[in-house]
Amino acid sequence: MTFRRWEKSDNEVIERLERENFADPWNKRMLDSCFSYDNFYGLVDTENEVIAGYVGAVYSGADADIMNVCVDAPFRRRGIARALMTEIIKYLGERGVENVFLEVRRSNATAISLYEKLGFIKVGERKRYYENTEDALVYVLTVKGE
Ligand SMILES: CC(C)(COP(=O)(O)OP(=O)(O)OC[C@H]1O[C@@H](n2cnc3c(N)ncnc32)[C@H](O)[C@@H]1OP(=O)(O)O)[C@@H](O)C(=O)NCCC(=O)NCCS
Repeated sequence: MTFRRWEKSDNEVIERLERENFADPWNKRMLDSCFSYDNFYGLVDTENEVIAGYVGAVYSGADADIMNVCVDAPFRRRGIARALMTEIIKYLGERGVENVFLEVRRSNATAISLYEKLGFIKVGERKRYYENTEDALVYVLTVKGE
């Protein structure tokens, strides 16, 4: 695992990973728009210089939102997502973030398991949030100061 900052120039590759790994992928315009925020931070993992996974967040004051986390299928179940999440949460905590929020499809048992193992707690639901059919579950992690 080799982590580095997610750069705008990664977005062509990440757009492809979005299409391959999500039912509702972000397109390049959406990915590029993240870089117009001062408070966007993302990490990519590379394996032999190929992007295998990524995570991005926006933060403001005490709150942050994880916008996306993904590990490409051939690289799953090696602890990459857990490590990416742990690393970005550390970064956010160091910048004064106390609450890290995220949304996940009710059916995404894999991601829910990952988040619950990291200590995220379910705090709400958004009915028919995805494509006006599937509910989103809202999770939060309280970041403990060092
Ligand atoms: C969810 C995702 C990011 C997990 O990536 P990963 O690198 O394989 O995850 P890790 O190896 O770090 O696994 C961490 C934990 O996640 C859970 N998990 C991962 N894959 C799982 C699977 N196939 N079934 C059940 N739980 C799973 C487990 O709790 C696992 O902990 P364990 O290894 O102690 O069992 C990856 O499957 C993915 O990109 N999926 C498609 C995109 C997506 O759904 N993203 C989340 C959107 S909210």
